[in-house]
Amino acid sequence: MRSSAVPALPLAQRVRGLEMPWNRVLSSASEPAGAATALGPWHPQEFAAECVETIPEAGGMMVFVFRRMDGAPLAFRSGQYINIDFPIDGPNAEPVSRSYSISSAPTEPWTFSITIKRDPKGKVSPWAHDHLRPGTVLDMLGPVGAFHLADYDRRARFLLLAAGAGITPLMSMIRTVHSLPGQADVVLLYHGAAPDSFAFSEELDFLANVDFRIKVIYCLGDRECGDEWEGRTGRLSTSLLDELVPDANGRQVFACGPEGYLNSATELLRTVGVDDTSVFMEFFSGDREIRAEYAEEVAIAGEIAEEIAATTEEYFESQPAALDMYEPEYDADGPVEAVGAPTEAVDAEAVVPVDAEVEIEVVGVTDENLAEAGPDSASDAGSTVPAGDGAAASAGESGDDDEIAVVDPAALPTVGQGEHTMSFVRTGLNVCVGEDETVLQAARKAGVKIPANCQEGMCGSCKVVKLDGDVEMNHLGGIRAREIDAGKFLPCCSTVKTDLVIDA
Ligand code: FES
Repeated sequence: MRSSAVPALPLAQRVRGLEMPWNRVLSSASEPAGAATALGPWHPQEFAAECVETIPEAGGMMVFVFRRMDGAPLAFRSGQYINIDFPIDGPNAEPVSRSYSISSAPTEPWTFSITIKRDPKGKVSPWAHDHLRPGTVLDMLGPVGAFHLADYDRRARFLLLAAGAGITPLMSMIRTVHSLPGQADVVLLYHGAAPDSFAFSEELDFLANVDFRIKVIYCLGDRECGDEWEGRTGRLSTSLLDELVPDANGRQVFACGPEGYLNSATELLRTVGVDDTSVFMEFFSGDREIRAEYAEEVAIAGEIAEEIAATTEEYFESQPAALDMYEPEYDADGPVEAVGAPTEAVDAEAVVPVDAEVEIEVVGVTDENLAEAGPDSASDAGSTVPAGDGAAASAGESGDDDEIAVVDPAALPTVGQGEHTMSFVRTGLNVCVGEDETVLQAARKAGVKIPANCQEGMCGSCKVVKLDGDVEMNHLGGIRAREIDAGKFLPCCSTVKTDLVIDA
């Protein structure tokens, strides 16, 4: 019999966009449940994992399924990668370290998989294909990487561009979307070299058949294909994009593939009107500069992992012996426990009311700034603010509730105390901030809704666009240089240097 004691959730709190299952726990002020605590936060950790299965895939790829030796689930976001030590020259020699994207979904975290394409000239991939078998234990560090889906996205409309082995992190994203409720719209445009080179095609066909939110388009470049081929042909081009994804400029684009493919994708996406800030790219075979970027991220991840391990050890040394039965990192009461924002982060539709007396006027924010911010400037950060199409005070493409109210900062009501003023132009509020407070802290105190999880500059979930002013940001990899160049910043780890105008 149905109990009348459980009240229905208000509309604004139901899942409407795409929301990751851990989001509410991490953003909850109350004690997180033990199991969910084990799944977060996303601090990189050093751990050992055992290979439990190998599955051959098309395109010369092999899927390696792992589980952690400590029995814990692996907490990561779909699109991230792990760094693995391969004992190629024997157990006593220095291992060779490589990073591989995780191809499984974080919603099935008890095992995880990486997919490696055999490169006959490579050092690691042939070894993995020939020697990595169930029972092999490898040292790993992760998760790492800012190329991932947001924890909450109310306009979860994606264009996934994959070329060859670039499908790996995108496969994780597709599997994740499929495993979750919520409104989403995913188009995968997958380029391969030959009809039989498309890894995961059986699963992709299945997902496209059973999940109306997912559309998969296979495309052979400009190579010869037999009469049997039913997919598309031709390199990535503006005409192909216009024909297959005419609404590309309303989507967040995640692209992964060889460098040449991604460079050309960057240009083409600009040509069809996709703003740079809505484009996220992962290079799976990079030049020296990209490899150096990876190495830097992995080095930072290693430092964080070491710090966490040290803190955890100290904590457990001070605990009664009975707690020894737990693995330090994963105990619900341990120092790595998720402490997060209030549950307001999931209240995605709520908007702090603008004083009815305030006259709304579009000044102080240029079209150029907003165009730079782009149509999904908020949604890629999982922001709660409605996204527009770049023109001040114009309606976004998703219609009714996407209207932007960009106002004259000087005309807004002001709250709080401090020497600098932050103008949240969409919320319609000026918030004074002191020099010791982060932008996020001051915003939250004033009731401005900015979703945030890690609160230390790592996850990128709080990313917003700064339209004017300067901040001092001390992040831990949650934002890319090009995003900073485009005016984005992470409020959780930023203090203000001047008055600010913020697109939130
Ligand atoms: S909350 Fe994670 S980067 Fe700001």
